[in-house]
Amino acid sequence: MAMRPRRSVLYIPGDNPRALDKARGLPADSIIIDLEDSVAPTNKEAARAGALDAIREGGYGSREIILRVNPIETPWGMSDLHAAVGAAPDAILVPKVSQPGDITGTAKVLKAVDAAPNIRLWAMIETPLGIINAREIAACGPDPENRLSCFVLGTNDLLKESRARSSNQRFAVVPWLAMTLVAARAYGLDVIDGVYNDFKDDLGFRAECEHGRTLGMDGKTLIHPSQVQPCNSVFSPTDEEVAWAFKIIKAFEEPENARKGVITVDGKMVERLHLVMARRVAAIANAINARSRAEEPWF
Ligand code: COA
Ligand code: MG
Repeated sequence: MAMRPRRSVLYIPGDNPRALDKARGLPADSIIIDLEDSVAPTNKEAARAGALDAIREGGYGSREIILRVNPIETPWGMSDLHAAVGAAPDAILVPKVSQPGDITGTAKVLKAVDAAPNIRLWAMIETPLGIINAREIAACGPDPENRLSCFVLGTNDLLKESRARSSNQRFAVVPWLAMTLVAARAYGLDVIDGVYNDFKDDLGFRAECEHGRTLGMDGKTLIHPSQVQPCNSVFSPTDEEVAWAFKIIKAFEEPENARKGVITVDGKMVERLHLVMARRVAAIANAINARSRAEEPWF
């Protein structure tokens, strides 16, 4: 099973060449080069040009590259999309997705300009309508024409739109995260948690990573280099989880268990659904190990 870890997903403003360069040496699994919220209206064209230069220049190794464009109805949206098609990142992140049409419409534009079929679409879920319609949006996933593969939570926008607070262990935010997560999983999508703004608060950040991991998130979006390493560590399977996964896989490989649906391992009931989970943990651990053995010594 091929698996792509998406533990750490770092935003970089497209108009910040120093940060774009720095990312070439950071252990982030994925980077989102941003043309939207982190770029002022006066800098949109410069950011687009800077993003294209960075992607063209390369040097990001095995990191997945995602380009976040402006909404299609803004003065920059369509030019961003055409530029993205030319640069051919791994994915285009569509902001403020509120209904399935935001994805199917973007996919149609990509088709019309013969975009490379391997460019995926990621969707920002960050509006009240996006939460309400998360299931219908996620349902675009199985049709390959729609290219949809991942949801990204935009918690800052959700807090703004809802007038809620982020305090108290994200009490107000958790229902939105949970709704988005089950919608995504129902249609086989990945989901990445929102950002933690207070990037100097290491303890608070780590606690929020754990919180997202417990909810089932695949990873977390990040805003600063200092967040990458702790995030990778929280979203990697632990040594105990990996050992347990391999134990389950091995147990079901025993000839006497070949036809059994349920067995006992270390005194615990283990079903074939646990085998499926174990294979996933093993695949992620293998993918992470493969990267740390690769030419990138900082992993
Ligand atoms: N990606 C890569 N490198 C980054 C970075 C990022 N997101 N944020 C900062 N850096 C780099 C800086 O360029 C600097 O590099 P240097 O050592 O070569 O000078 C180094 O990390 C230290 O940066 P620091 O001085 O601590 O931060 P800052 O004051 O320059 O920037 C922010 C702080 C929050 C403005 C900046 O981190 C940022 O723009 N983050 C992303 C915001 C974003 O994209 N938001 C949209 C989604 S919510
Ligand atoms: Mg936003």
